[in-house]
Amino acid sequence: WPALADDVAAILELKKTRNAVILAHNYQAPEIFHTVADIVGDSLALAREAVTVDADVIVLAGVHFMAETAKLLNPGKTVLIPDTRAGCSLADSITAADVRGLRAKYPGVPIVTYVNTSAAVKAESDLCCTSGNAVEVVRSLNAPRVLMIPDEFLAQNVQAMVPEVEILTWAGHCEVHEQFTPADIREVRESYPGVTVITHPECPPEVVAEADFSGSTAMMMNFVLEKRPKQVVLVTECSMGDNIAAANPDIEFIKPCNLCPHMKRMSLKNIRHALETMTHEVTVEPELAERARMAVERMLAVRT
Ligand code: 13P
Ligand code: SF4
Repeated sequence: WPALADDVAAILELKKTRNAVILAHNYQAPEIFHTVADIVGDSLALAREAVTVDADVIVLAGVHFMAETAKLLNPGKTVLIPDTRAGCSLADSITAADVRGLRAKYPGVPIVTYVNTSAAVKAESDLCCTSGNAVEVVRSLNAPRVLMIPDEFLAQNVQAMVPEVEILTWAGHCEVHEQFTPADIREVRESYPGVTVITHPECPPEVVAEADFSGSTAMMMNFVLEKRPKQVVLVTECSMGDNIAAANPDIEFIKPCNLCPHMKRMSLKNIRHALETMTHEVTVEPELAERARMAVERMLAVRT
């Protein structure tokens, strides 16, 4: 990306002068993922790594809830998000008042909240989960009934794996993954006989049922890199395949994929601007942060 070399060089220099690290989600475009990112991963890895980061400044190249989670775990550090509009349809689907309503309606039922939520929603929850540990988190509770919010499809996909627990949920959906249909998978299987199909658990259960494997973005990548299928479809955001395709020319990555408009708000230009101007700082009110942090820390304590 010669046209972008200028921004990359500036960012690498700014990281030194600001003592900053860049955490990038697996959905970031290759020109961010492979050039300026210090740590890349799924939501769980980014949360885990955020605890160990040795820097004054964290730039989160991802969406707002990821930056907020990094801030919860690093109250003394400056956390920047290059574009504050990088939201998430799941985070927007539920409020703290909604969670209080569920608590009142289902007294005594533990509330597991997907990390794709605001700090205010996390603060009302018992513990968090990601798509990489949701099954283990539910099992760790040893409860007959669990509320898993706000992703209805993730909850249904976990329910299929943990039949001994009754999982209640909410009607939130990922605007990227809800678009995939079983017909998409069947079409691709017809066109590419023998193709390996991998889905993200934010997809509807009837889509996951058609897949060979389903898991978090890191689990999807690991599966491909270990099994090395000749042809694979990653039923998720488009950058996932792009990020591993170049280094793995023996694997053919077949579409369909969809773009996440929120993840795609990140660019080298606005990462550079964030470090130049130290904007936009993510803050969470201390009392709320304390309660939200407990929910994230309880999740990080669950063995996976
Ligand atoms: P992962 O935790 O699997 O990276 O997923 C995050 C996300 O937003 C997927 O849409
Ligand atoms: Fe949210 Fe879906 Fe985008 Fe992930 S892909 S950030 S769940 S809207």
